[in-house]
Amino acid sequence: LKTLKVALLGFGNAGRAFARLLMKKEAALEARFDCHIAITAISTHTHGCAVDAGGLDLAEAVQTVEAGGRLRGDASLSAMDIITMADYDVLFEMTPLNIRTGQPAIDHIKAAFARGKHVVTANKGPIAWAFDELSALAASRGALFFYETTVMDGTPVFNLAQLTLPETSVTEVSGILNTTTNYILEELAAGKAYEDILSAGRALGFIEADAAMDIEGYDAAAKLTALLNVLMHAHMTPDQVERTGIEHITPADIRAAAARESVIKLYCRGWRDSGRLRATVQPVEVPRGSLLATIDATSSVVSITTEEMGKLSVVEHNPLIEQTAYGLFSDLIRVLNALA
Ligand SMILES: NC(=O)c1ccc[n+]([C@@H]2O[C@H](COP(=O)([O-])OP(=O)(O)OC[C@H]3O[C@@H](n4cnc5c(N)ncnc54)[C@H](OP(=O)(O)O)[C@@H]3O)[C@@H](O)[C@H]2O)c1
Repeated sequence: LKTLKVALLGFGNAGRAFARLLMKKEAALEARFDCHIAITAISTHTHGCAVDAGGLDLAEAVQTVEAGGRLRGDASLSAMDIITMADYDVLFEMTPLNIRTGQPAIDHIKAAFARGKHVVTANKGPIAWAFDELSALAASRGALFFYETTVMDGTPVFNLAQLTLPETSVTEVSGILNTTTNYILEELAAGKAYEDILSAGRALGFIEADAAMDIEGYDAAAKLTALLNVLMHAHMTPDQVERTGIEHITPADIRAAAARESVIKLYCRGWRDSGRLRATVQPVEVPRGSLLATIDATSSVVSITTEEMGKLSVVEHNPLIEQTAYGLFSDLIRVLNALA
C-alpha cells in the first residue's frame, strides 16, 4: 500500500465535511488506488494546528474542533510554517475567501508550488485573481493544480470541460452563480420585505452577516472570472467584470416583470465580442418557464457553449455542505489518477 500525504489548510465547514467524506471512502480509495491517504497536517486560525508525518487521527481532529476545542500542535506554527515545513504531497487550501485580493490564499498556493507540492483549492480567490500565474508555476514545478469546488461546489464544471469535452473551444459561459441573490429575488417576488428576507436567510445560515459582496454582485463576478480564466483563457480579474448588483431592484420592478410573465435573475455572462472578451453580471428579466427562471432557491446553473458541442447546461439543485466535500474529494481522485 502506497501513502499519499495530505495537508489541510483550514478546517472549517468545508474542511471538516471533506474529512468526514474521506473517512467514509477510505477503504474504497485503498482498494481502488492501492493508496492510503494520510492527513499529516491541519492548520486553523483559532482552533490550533496538528502535525504528524505518520498521519493524524482525523476522527479525533473533527471531534475536537466540533466540540469547540483546539488541536494540540505547536501553537506558534503559522499556516505558512506548515506549508513550508510540514511533510505532505498535496495541500488543500480551504481558508476563507478574500474576494478583493485572493490573499493570503494565493501566497499559500505559491509556497506549496515552490516546494513542488500538488494543490487542491476550494477557495476561488486564487482562481479569480491569479490563475495564470499559479497554473504556470504549477506546470514549471511539475505540480498538479485542481479547483473544482471553487464554482458550484462538487458539480462538475471544470472537470466536465477538462475531462469530458477534450479539444473543444469554449465560446461563451453563462449562468446563475450566486445563490444568495437568487434566494433574495425569489423571496421579494413572493412579497416579503427585504430586511425580513435578510434576517431569515442569516438565521438559516446561508446569508452572510455582510451580504454586500453577494448583493452588489462581487461574488458572482469572482465566480464568472474563475470560469472565464479557466475555460476561455480570459487572463482577467474580477474588477474587469461589468457589474450591476440587485441592490436597486424594487418590489415594483419584480411586479412589473411578473406582469410581463417574467422573473428577474442575477445573470452572469462571458463571451467574445468582436475578438474582445466581455464579462457581465447584471439583473435580467427572463421568461417564466425558461431554464433560467426555474433555477430556484439556492440552486445554480452554468451553461458552457462550445464550437463543437453547442450549449450545455448543468444545474446544481439546492446544495448542502456534502456537495462541497465531494468537490474536494473529486479533485483528490484526479490527483490519485494522475499519480497512479
Ligand atoms: N462552505 C461551502 O459550502 C463552500 C463551498 C465552496 C467553496 N468554499 C470555500 O472553501 C473555503 C472554506 O470555506 P468554509 O465554509 O470551510 O469556511 P469556514 O468554515 O470559515 O472555515 C475556514 C477555516 O480556515 C481557517 N483559517 C482562517 N484563516 C486561516 C489562515 N490564515 N490559515 C489557516 N487557516 C485559516 C479557519 O480557522 P478557525 O477554525 O480557527 O476559524 C477555519 O478552520 C472558502 O474559501 C470558501 O469560499 C466553501
